[in-house]
Amino acid sequence: MHLKIRLTRRKLEIWALSLTSLVFAFYILNLTLALIILNKDVQTSRGMLYPRESETREVRTLDGIWNFVRSDESNPTQGIRDGWFKDDLSKSRPTIPMPVPASYNDITTEQALRDHVGTVWYDRKFFVPRSWAHEQRVWLRFGSVHYEAFVWMNGQLVVKHEMGHLPFETEVTHLLQYGAENRITVMCDNALIQTTVPQGKISEMANDGGVTIIQSYTFDFFNYAGIHRSVHLYTTPKTFIEQVDIKTNLTNNNSVGHVDYSIIVNGSATNEADNTLYARLLLYSREGDLVSNVRSDSKLLGSLQVENVNPWWPYLMHSDPGYLYKLEIKLYAANEQLLDVYRLNVGLRTLSWNNTTFLINGKPIYFRGFGRHEDADVRGKGLDNALMTRDFNLLKWIGANAYRTSHYPYSEESMQFADRHGIMIIDECPSVDTENFNQVLLGKHKSSLEQLVHRDRNHPSVVMWSIANEPRTGQLNADTYFQFVANYTRSLDGTRPITAAIAVPSTDDKAGRYLDIISFNRYNAWYSNTGRLDMVTKRVIEEATAWNKKYDKPVLMAEYGADTLEGLHLQPAFVWSEEFQTAVFSQHFKAFDALRRKKWFIGEFVWNFADFKTAQSYTRVGGNKKGVFTRARQPKAAAHLLRQRYFALGREVDQCSLPDDLFTYIADVGNSVKHDSSDL
Ligand SMILES: *[C@@H]1O[C@H](CO)[C@@H](O)[C@H](O)[C@H]1NC(C)=O
Ligand SMILES: *[C@@H]1O[C@H](CO)[C@@H](O)[C@H](O)[C@H]1NC(C)=O
Ligand SMILES: *[C@@H]1O[C@H](CO)[C@@H](O)[C@H](O)[C@H]1NC(C)=O
Ligand SMILES: *[C@@H]1O[C@H](CO)[C@@H](O)[C@H](O)[C@H]1NC(C)=O
Ligand SMILES: *[C@@H]1O[C@H](CO)[C@@H](O)[C@H](O)[C@H]1NC(C)=O
Ligand SMILES: *[C@@H]1O[C@H](CO)[C@@H](O)[C@H](O)[C@H]1NC(C)=O
Repeated sequence: MHLKIRLTRRKLEIWALSLTSLVFAFYILNLTLALIILNKDVQTSRGMLYPRESETREVRTLDGIWNFVRSDESNPTQGIRDGWFKDDLSKSRPTIPMPVPASYNDITTEQALRDHVGTVWYDRKFFVPRSWAHEQRVWLRFGSVHYEAFVWMNGQLVVKHEMGHLPFETEVTHLLQYGAENRITVMCDNALIQTTVPQGKISEMANDGGVTIIQSYTFDFFNYAGIHRSVHLYTTPKTFIEQVDIKTNLTNNNSVGHVDYSIIVNGSATNEADNTLYARLLLYSREGDLVSNVRSDSKLLGSLQVENVNPWWPYLMHSDPGYLYKLEIKLYAANEQLLDVYRLNVGLRTLSWNNTTFLINGKPIYFRGFGRHEDADVRGKGLDNALMTRDFNLLKWIGANAYRTSHYPYSEESMQFADRHGIMIIDECPSVDTENFNQVLLGKHKSSLEQLVHRDRNHPSVVMWSIANEPRTGQLNADTYFQFVANYTRSLDGTRPITAAIAVPSTDDKAGRYLDIISFNRYNAWYSNTGRLDMVTKRVIEEATAWNKKYDKPVLMAEYGADTLEGLHLQPAFVWSEEFQTAVFSQHFKAFDALRRKKWFIGEFVWNFADFKTAQSYTRVGGNKKGVFTRARQPKAAAHLLRQRYFALGREVDQCSLPDDLFTYIADVGNSVKHDSSDL
């Protein structure tokens, strides 16, 4: 069984790490294995349409308060051996209440749970309506469980999934009691090792009471764990729409839109009479008017055409950004019987790029955005609709048009929000600080991208795939490894460019040649030359130029910034103060403006949108404080400066209009000093 192999491997790793000679042997073994990385196929995911109600589908959520047990760290498989899933968890162990969705770490007051390494258990009971028993299927779907999940329904193992931040589902039709009570049990394992995505290390260390298990990782955010997103039960007909793939483009000077669709149906009818099914696709405008209508052939793929199309535009690039059509897909049997109906929002746009420019609908993009985290007080990485809505309001307030889902896929709900608000997404897989490239890791890395592309390919907001953050691309084998990863991603979706946020010096990097766009992270005046505001501008210009010279591709700066303790004011600017963050930004703006004249420089992304939690460290005061907003989502001083820049850029690059409150009235002392929005 998979878990056993994992745990055995983990034990081996613990051993290896505690015995120096074995460490060496392990290292040599890894190195040898690493030298012969092969490009093997990975299993592809199926289904995974976001659960939506329709005349043929019902959706129920299992969100709420579940029962929870923390396993003994030194005995992570005990629950499996003792069959905790066979009955209520409370029969095996005392349980505590645990909200779903949420990270479990910060819910209680216990250090042991916050820092727990290994498995935890959840269960709850629920009723399934009697009406669901008839002629349909029932599916169980998790938006995300970090990191690895085992799920039992009424005591039967129904699905296992490894990888945080990505959905998984399984059919449970035959395991449910209809019109009666059911029990779902979930075991979640947060341990990260050298072959997980992201990577971590498990070791044993002596403590005051004996030995303890230590989870370490190099990435700079807290390894929150648990059932992070919603749990749904939903029904489909026996024969149902399983997958939908949409590609759009615009022609005739953006006046005609095309929606290329491909539908995959699953179920009994397909097998018997494959070529008798057909679909009717109806495209409605935002106002609800039918604008295009087509009957598919039996292959269930084809194209819709829209005259006088309203293209999907990013925020501030157009007066009506985020325009979405509604696509209604109706699946019919040959006898005209309606089998299934699924609806999704579709934005029509074209992306194109070459070695200097990235265009949307034929217009060059200049990104002004953020790196972010899914992170909040108490709930950790748990989905929170109030927080998500506030975050989008802040993004629009500050005039940003983009963010990167650093350093893992964000919630499907937030992707839908981005579509609607016209926020462009650089969509990143969970590979962060990737190193020690090996065969198993490659397979999982590719799988994470397969799951990501599969989940997000229909979102107009997704304009780029990021295949890694700060990978050690100077290492041996980075070349082969990233060629495999980039080629694989391109084979999954050729309509979007591929990037990675790279932090090694351009001279060391081996991965950039496989990317379409180069993103780089650099902390001048922070991690290097700390406090030196006079050592920023020239260095940023030189580094961006070096990347462009090396690869002849568009370049963007994906991270820059400075930790800033809210409320700390020091004049002249000194590290950690609000004045310093403001000054660091301003020094970067000078570089960006010089670079913008070179055309191939296509964007600036601040690190970070908001303060967020990290592992404990003497460089972190209660977490990473590089937020432009506090963790409670209130602006620091630099937010006001950034807002003025982002709108000024919007005005210059995209001719957007400016908010009335962008500048504060100072004095009526003539045009040379007066600062209001008409000055720009
Ligand atoms: C746009 O879509 C139409 C219809 O699918 C197709 O014929 C055309 O080749 C596409 N054009 C581009 C530039 O992709
Ligand atoms: C495309 O549309 C724009 C705006 O309507 C117009 O100015 C331009 O002349 C058009 N170009 C072509 C090639 O039709
Ligand atoms: C239906 O789904 C199952 C399970 O995911 C898969 O094995 C099978 O190939 C699918 N059938 C068709 C016709 O797509
Ligand atoms: C890249 O695309 C831009 C915009 O279409 C164009 O102006 C430029 O000439 C192109 N560069 C190359 C090298 O093709
Ligand atoms: C861009 O690409 C074209 C075609 O591949 C190449 O000829 C050119 O040298 C590249 N660089 C620039 C700056 O145009
Ligand atoms: C990756 O793609 C490039 C360009 O299409 C191709 O030349 C190369 O052989 C591919 N590499 C692998 C390992 O598939």
